[in-house]
Parts: sequence; C-alpha cells; structure tokens
Amino acid sequence: MNTSGAVAVSSNGPSDFVLSDGEYKRICELVREHTGIALFESKREMIYGRLVRRLRALRLSGFAPYIAQLEKSDTAELEEFINAVTTNLTSFFRESHHFDHLAKEVLPAISRRAQGSGRLRIWSCACSTGEEPYSAAMVLREQKELLVGIDARILATDLDTQVLATASAGIYAQERLESVSQARVARYFQTLSEGVKGKVKVSPSLQELITFKQLNLMNDWPMRGPFDVIFCRNVIIYFDKPTQKILFERMAELQRPGDFLYLGHSESLHRVTDRYELIGRTIYRRVED
Ligand SMILES: C[S@@+](CC[C@H](N)C(=O)[O-])C[C@H]1O[C@@H](n2cnc3c(N)ncnc32)[C@H](O)[C@@H]1O
Repeated sequence: MNTSGAVAVSSNGPSDFVLSDGEYKRICELVREHTGIALFESKREMIYGRLVRRLRALRLSGFAPYIAQLEKSDTAELEEFINAVTTNLTSFFRESHHFDHLAKEVLPAISRRAQGSGRLRIWSCACSTGEEPYSAAMVLREQKELLVGIDARILATDLDTQVLATASAGIYAQERLESVSQARVARYFQTLSEGVKGKVKVSPSLQELITFKQLNLMNDWPMRGPFDVIFCRNVIIYFDKPTQKILFERMAELQRPGDFLYLGHSESLHRVTDRYELIGRTIYRRVED
C-alpha cells in the first residue's frame, strides 16, 4: 500500500543493494504479468525504494534471490510484491463532479425508470482504501427518496489486499476527512473511543451498501453486471493502450447502452474504444452496439 507516488529511498541510502538493468527489466516483466502495470525507467528509483523494504524484511542479500523467489510463484510474497508496487493515492470526494453527476443525473434517471422497483449497481473497480465507494454510498444515502423500492449496491474491488483491508475496516485518520463537509462527517462518521485517538469509523449505513472484494482487472471477472455506473478512476494510467482497450471492451459487456463510466482526471478513451461517448468532464456513456 503506497499512498503517494513519491520516490522512496532507504534511510541508509540507495547504495545498500544494487539493482542491475537486467534485474529491473525482470521486475518490470513480473509487475506487468501480475498487475498489468507498465513500468518505465522513470519509475526505477521508486520501485527500488519500495522493494528494498521487502528485501530487508526477508533478509535477502540482493534482488537476484528476490526475483528467484517471485519466479517460484511464492504466493505470499507475490501478494506483498503486488501490494508494494501499486500506488494507492485517493481521497473522499476526489474529482467531486462525478459524485454530483451521480446525484443529479444518474439517480433521478434510475428512479424514473424503475418506478418504485428495480436495482442500481455501481462498481468501483480500483477502490484503493475505500474513500471512493464510501463517497458514492454517502450520495446514495442522501438521495434515498429517489431510491425507494430500489435495491442499491456498490461493488468495490482492488488488486491490493492491504488497501482492501483498510477499506473494509472503514477506519480513517481524522485528517482524511478534510474533503468531507461537516454535515457529512457528523452524519456518516463515528469517533472511536479512547486508545484510537484521531481515528474515525464510517457508519454501518454506508458499510452495508458496499461489498469489498479482491479483483485483479487482468484476470477473469466473476460478476455478470449490468452496472449502471463504473468508477474506473486513476488506474488505467498505469496500463498501456492495448491493455486499456481490452479492459474497456470487457467493461462495455457489463454495461447497457446509456450506463455511465467515470475516468480519472488525466485519463481518456480517445483512440482506446468507441463503445463509450464522452458526455462531460471524464464522464462517458455506453453507446448502442
Ligand atoms: C491511484 S489508486 C486510485 C484510487 C481511486 N480509484 C481514486 O481515483 O481515488 C489506483 C488503484 O488501482 C489499483 N490497481 C492497480 N492495478 C490494478 C489491477 N490490475 N487490478 C485492480 N486494481 C489495480 C491499485 O492497487 C490502487 O489501489
């Protein structure tokens, strides 16, 4: 779990272990194979910093034995490796225009269509520590009059097991709530008792809307959909174009024409797929087949 993209260098200096060109290339291949993430030379120092911690934890003499261990498909270490290489930066109501669109456009339309019974399904496909699905859950709770008789659920998935554990616990440092209004803090967060100072827990009313599951976007997806809305934000930047294309073709199969897809601020479907049309700032709508 890495909550910033910052370069991490060991406290004893980067020369403790030597990462050769060949070893870095092999690590990039393993990252690609297990996560879909395409690494470049520019990420070398960051990856070095993150993996040196694993070398120390395992008391290894260098990168070569570490690579050998990963190549033996050591499942436990592969999980640590994946958790170490992912970047998990997120926040509540990040890119808030998506939550406004959900509240003002999507939910009223679903309410009109459902006419008192129906379902709403949202997928947060790279949910990190959970702020994204919990923000969506707050919107659903606030628009509950639109959702009367509608079975509303959020599926929140990520590859990284460490961030998912944080997400399902729903416990955050108080500072994480800076982007949440006072009214929402009062309504959806509970201060924890003595001993866990400075921490808050999300309310059961949000947690009960969300199912957290581990899912690698590169592997099979067990869900059938359809999803009215998919949050796929700030994850495809790590994938190359052919991988993005495959991913969105698969997502299009889980959505009906008219359903929505939200991307991150620096992401776009331009020259990736024509299954979606851009209808607003990083807001896409699934087109007819
Ligand atoms: C920068 S965070 C984005 C969090 C959130 N969507 C947001 O926009 O604030 C990227 C997340 O993508 C996840 N990720 C990376 N590769 C993945 C993959 N192949 N399958 C599923 N999740 C992946 C990482 O673990 C990380 O939590």
